[in-house]
Amino acid sequence: MNTSASNINYPHRHLLGIEGLTAQEISALLDASKPHVEQNRRADKTLTTLHGRTLINLFFENSTRTRTSFELAGKRLGADVINMAVSTSSIKKGETLIDTAVTLNAMHPDVLVVRHPDSGAVKLLSEKVNCAVINAGDGRHEHPTQALLDALTIRHRKGRIEGLTVAICGDILHSRVARSNIHLLNAMGAHVRVVAPPTLLPAKIENLGVEVFHHMASGLHDCDIIMMLRLQVERMQGSFVPSTREYFRFYGLDAKKMTAAKPDALIMHPGPMNRGVEIDSELADDITRSAICDQVELGVAVRMACLEVLTDNLAKTL
Ligand code: NCD
Repeated sequence: MNTSASNINYPHRHLLGIEGLTAQEISALLDASKPHVEQNRRADKTLTTLHGRTLINLFFENSTRTRTSFELAGKRLGADVINMAVSTSSIKKGETLIDTAVTLNAMHPDVLVVRHPDSGAVKLLSEKVNCAVINAGDGRHEHPTQALLDALTIRHRKGRIEGLTVAICGDILHSRVARSNIHLLNAMGAHVRVVAPPTLLPAKIENLGVEVFHHMASGLHDCDIIMMLRLQVERMQGSFVPSTREYFRFYGLDAKKMTAAKPDALIMHPGPMNRGVEIDSELADDITRSAICDQVELGVAVRMACLEVLTDNLAKTL
């Protein structure tokens, strides 16, 4: 393999979550992403590192950026990439998750990238296959490559993660992005806050090592990074906020609420954004303050690194 991935300290077969990874392992994946950031800006973007390898994207939930990002990452490394849209697959005919996994496994893929609405489903699937599995989001549980791309974006824009104060704001309750970010940022030595109405916070969230705030003014006070989250209405059973208008008034990020944060505070959002619900439209488009496009760009580099590292680990165990 013509890549530095062979020397990377990530001794795992899969990437199922950030919880339990060490700061060294996280840093190793971020370092491995760096060369791909430049590579992705060249006219000729395609490498041959994963030539002959097969990546299957298996998405049981809708996705635009994550699926496209993994597809591009695989193609830019020269892999064969198959996208399985569940709406046209045997799942619709009643096949179970495990049967689908076993069937795909029999076709000898090297990596399965899986998104599923149930927390824990991706881990279950990983126990039934011989290939490497990447969790592309399981229910409210984890979305590890999102946290890694967020970390790479913070490193790029701020030069470090350690010592920064990061406020994660909004629908924490339903967010796998929040959970993965909390684990990663804590492991890397950031100070993590969550800011949300009590109805959108999981019970005992402080046990994950975060400071809890219910008001944006206090939660954003002096912070370096503001991560906004989408109201995940598709996961809500019942009413969690009185109205989106009222939600924006109290928890939507606008220029006035931003004044509580440091003057050079960076705005992040995993997408898709609901403009005027969790974030003011103008602020989202202000590239001096918002890193939202950087997040999408660096996501491809992060996923390329993860694919390289996992396929390399797989080769070592064969
Ligand atoms: C997030 C997800 O699916 O968890 N989106 C993403 O992967 N970029 C967040 C969301 O859907 O709000």
